[in-house]
Formats: sequence, structure tokens, C-alpha cells
Amino acid sequence: MTAPKRIAVVQGDGIGKEVIPAAIEVLRASTAPLTFTHFDWGADRYVIDGTTIPPDGFQMLARDFDAIFVGALGDPRVPSNIHAKEILLGMRFQMDLYANVRPVKLLDASLCPLKNATPADINFTVIRENTEGVYAGMGGNFKFGTPDEIATQEDINTRKGVERIIRFAFDYARANGRRKVLMSDKSNVMTHAGGLWQRVFKHVASDYPEIAIQHMYVDALCLQMVREPQSLDVIVTNNMFGDIITDLAAALQGGLGMAASGNIHPGRTSMFEPVHGSAPPIAGKNNANPMGAILTGAMMLAHLGLNAEAQKIEAAVLAAVREKKTTVDVGGTLGTRECASWIAKHVAE
Ligand SMILES: NC(=O)c1ccc[n+]([C@@H]2O[C@H](COP(=O)([O-])OP(=O)(O)OC[C@H]3O[C@@H](n4cnc5c(N)ncnc54)[C@H](O)[C@@H]3O)[C@@H](O)[C@H]2O)c1
Repeated sequence: MTAPKRIAVVQGDGIGKEVIPAAIEVLRASTAPLTFTHFDWGADRYVIDGTTIPPDGFQMLARDFDAIFVGALGDPRVPSNIHAKEILLGMRFQMDLYANVRPVKLLDASLCPLKNATPADINFTVIRENTEGVYAGMGGNFKFGTPDEIATQEDINTRKGVERIIRFAFDYARANGRRKVLMSDKSNVMTHAGGLWQRVFKHVASDYPEIAIQHMYVDALCLQMVREPQSLDVIVTNNMFGDIITDLAAALQGGLGMAASGNIHPGRTSMFEPVHGSAPPIAGKNNANPMGAILTGAMMLAHLGLNAEAQKIEAAVLAAVREKKTTVDVGGTLGTRECASWIAKHVAE
């Protein structure tokens, strides 16, 4: 028997504290050999003793765990959002989880706001660069708070960083039977960074002759995502553009409550989290849709090589959607716990 996969769990804040236990119920119902270790990092802990993540937290996660399962971070009691930055961005940046992978799959036509769209039309993956760009935090303020204030936010694009994310997208396409990689940027106006992305994209593509390539400016891509989503396969883009287009993509698959993601560095302990945030207005009401977290759990299993178990969970989520055993945001009447229990039962059958 293979050794159980060791999962570090950070439920975090708000609905993270509801959807992660719900997803764990489903993961436990599967035959996947897993152990779960919970960490109380989040706003509750921060307001008590100021801890965001302990000094050796990231090293410990990388050393002692096979994957990290995170809910969401963000709480009105911490207006600076410092705990979320240190925990979430800390994992992404300090553990160098450079590839943010967001599968966009419509499970049922009823979930899509687009007229006449079917599951065959919406099935693509966004690969977002996760460690550079404007989110690297470089820049500053001059003459802060005065009428002459100047703010700069630098867009960091390293040759190594651009090359490894583009190569990741092509490797992902190859491993998943995808046929096309589309690189999206704004190289018509952001000529320096865009030029680097363009050159590296062509260079890397020559190593993958069986995979078609395409380029689109990110504004045109937004139009395409709505008008012709069936033309999309694998999209690779920078940190900020990826952040924005994946919310649009989530809308195509039924909303934030349906969307899964992984933050990956091949060969290292990687982190998996539903796309949505902590949603304070609906937190604590047993209303949050757990499917994004459950599908994220399945994605984590597939990443750990537990493909059969992952597919079983995906099939159970699909069954729940078809039978309307869902939360209200996607047309059902169930609460978070009841929806997860239905799916868990289906997985165990
Ligand atoms: N990765 C993360 O941890 C992450 C991501 C985004 C936002 N945040 C944080 O979360 C907090 C709230 O941010 P926000 O309101 O911009 O985004 P959000 O994703 O938390 O919520 C936006 C709205 O979407 C709906 N929604 C989201 N998830 C849902 C679910 N599972 N089921 C049903 N409805 C759902 C709710 O109506 C919610 O009010 C902020 O503190 C923000 O910084 C964290």
C-alpha cells in the first residue's frame, strides 16, 4: 500500500471555514489515502496574538507535506489584509509556486450566463504567472499624501520567470491532450514586457511542434471568452491579466463558487485553493457553495497522482449539479453542509 499523502490544511477566514471542512468530508469519503493536519492561520489567530505564519512556516510546509489545501483569507477585522498577504502571497512567492492553474469547465448548460452555451463550449485552462508582474510589490510613493504625490508600481518580468511559465503551459497542454496554447498580453502598448513575452513564447513553442500557438491582446481575449469560448484551449498570461480573466472565466462556469485552482511548482509541495475569497457577507450562514473547494480537492488528488479518486469526485459534483443538489447561488436549495454530504455519499457509493 502506498503511504498516505500528507495534506496541510489552512481553512483561513469567512467561508473558508465552511467550504474546507465540507470538501474534506468529500475527500474522506473517497478511497484516497490522505492525512490532514490543520493550521489555525488566519484572522482569528492574528487578532489574538499577531501571528500570520510562524517564522519557519513555509520551510515546514515544504518539508513535511505533500500538498497544502487552503480556504480563503480576508477579514473585515484586519483592514490592512496583512495576514492574507503574508500567508497567501507568502506561500506563492516564498515557496515559489509560480504556476497558477485554473481549469474552466462548464458542468451543465444551466450554470452558464451565455445564451446557448453547452459544456462542450467551455472547457479551457488558464495558466497564470504567479510570482512576478505588478504583484511583486516593487514601487513606491513620493511626496506621499500631498497634492504632488507620485505612485509607481513596477511590472517585473524576468526572462527566467516568463520562460518557465510558458514552458509550464506547453507541458500542461502536452500532458493533458490539449492542442493549442494561446499567449495573452498587451504588447501593443506595454512594449518592453510584452516584447519579452512574445520572443520567449515563439522560442519555447518551437520545442512543442505538435501544439498550435496563438496570440491575443488581453482586451480582445475578454471579448473572445464571451463570444467564442469554444475556441480556447490553454491560455498563458501574466499575473495581473490572469487574475482578471479568471474571474470572467469563473462567471462562465457558474460563478466564483464553482471555480478551482492550484498554485504549483512541479516537484515541490504545491498549494490548492478555491478561486473565491472569504465572502464576509455570506460567511457563517451555511450558504457558501462548497463545489469550488471540492473540485479543488479533486485537482489536488490528481496532482498527487490519485487520478481515479479525483475523477470519482468530479463525477459526483457533476451528478449534484445535474440533480440540483446544490447551494442557492447555482440554483439549488441545499446548505453548504448538505450539498457536501450529498456529494460525499455519492463518492462513497
Ligand atoms: N484567495 C483568497 O483567499 C481570496 C481571493 C479573493 C478575495 N479574497 C478576500 O476575500 C474577501 C472578500 O473579497 P470579495 O468580496 O472581493 O470576493 P469573494 O470571492 O470573497 O466574494 C464575492 C462574492 O461572490 C460570492 N461568492 C464567492 N464565493 C462564493 C461561494 N463559495 N458560494 C456562494 N457565493 C460565493 C458572494 O456573493 C460574495 O459576496 C476580501 O477580504 C478579499 O481580500 C481572498
